[in-house]
Amino acid sequence: MLKLINVSKSYESAADIREDVLTDINLKVEKGKSLAIIGPSGSGKSTLLNLIGALDRPTAGSVIIDGTDLASQTDTQLAAIRNKRIGFVFQLHHLLPQCSVLENILLPTLADKSSQADDCKQRAMDLLEQVDLKNKMLHRPSQLSGGQRQRVAVVRALINEPDFLLADEPTGSLDKNNSENIAKLLIDINQRQNVTLIVVTHSTQLAEHMDEMLMLINGKLKNITE
Ligand SMILES: Nc1ncnc2c1ncn2[C@@H]1O[C@H](COP(=O)(O)OP(=O)(O)OP(=O)(O)O)[C@@H](O)[C@H]1O
Ligand SMILES: [Mg+2]
Repeated sequence: MLKLINVSKSYESAADIREDVLTDINLKVEKGKSLAIIGPSGSGKSTLLNLIGALDRPTAGSVIIDGTDLASQTDTQLAAIRNKRIGFVFQLHHLLPQCSVLENILLPTLADKSSQADDCKQRAMDLLEQVDLKNKMLHRPSQLSGGQRQRVAVVRALINEPDFLLADEPTGSLDKNNSENIAKLLIDINQRQNVTLIVVTHSTQLAEHMDEMLMLINGKLKNITE
């Protein structure tokens, strides 16, 4: 289970001006559930997702993943949590242009010396088959369509069998058809593999498929699930 207790985040800019982006956020997400976070641009959605994904630390409060308070973890321990337990899909996919699809997907497995290269490769190919891209595994990202790249980014986020899949505007740069495909893929993974799914999105269509929908506004989360 994921728990946020009184989480606040402020940024201090060079001119000594403080911006309070998140104030006293409380949130509980049970294992295997899905949650959509919506809200205006600049309201702090990416900031919040980065805290949940152990990419950043809160100014105050606790982020607790299955009983472990992330504040008690060293940077090295946080890196291990990110690598093993959390899959992140970024808006602009962040695939390495010089690597093939397969190499991009296998990148997160390299950090774990105990993982067997052959097993990882087999898993990558199985996942690529699920998203209909096995025939593209030796292509480079520039040789793929936007929707295909985003599917590769989802596969890469899943390669280490994470407990949490965090997606920041996964359909932001896609047309309607591709958005729907990515939405279906995320929901399918959440339901079939019991992966907890948290999606930041502008798409109410995607948000409506989630168990819960929250809006981030003025630093607070509001429940807007019907
Ligand atoms: N590293 C940073 N340093 C200073 N301020 C930051 C930093 N990151 C974000 N901010 C500020 O925090 C606020 C929230 O930003 P954030 O990226 O979380 O918004 P968002 O809800 O994801 O917006 P969008 O929908 O446009 O992606 C913004 O005002 C932004 O300028
Ligand atoms: Mg954002």
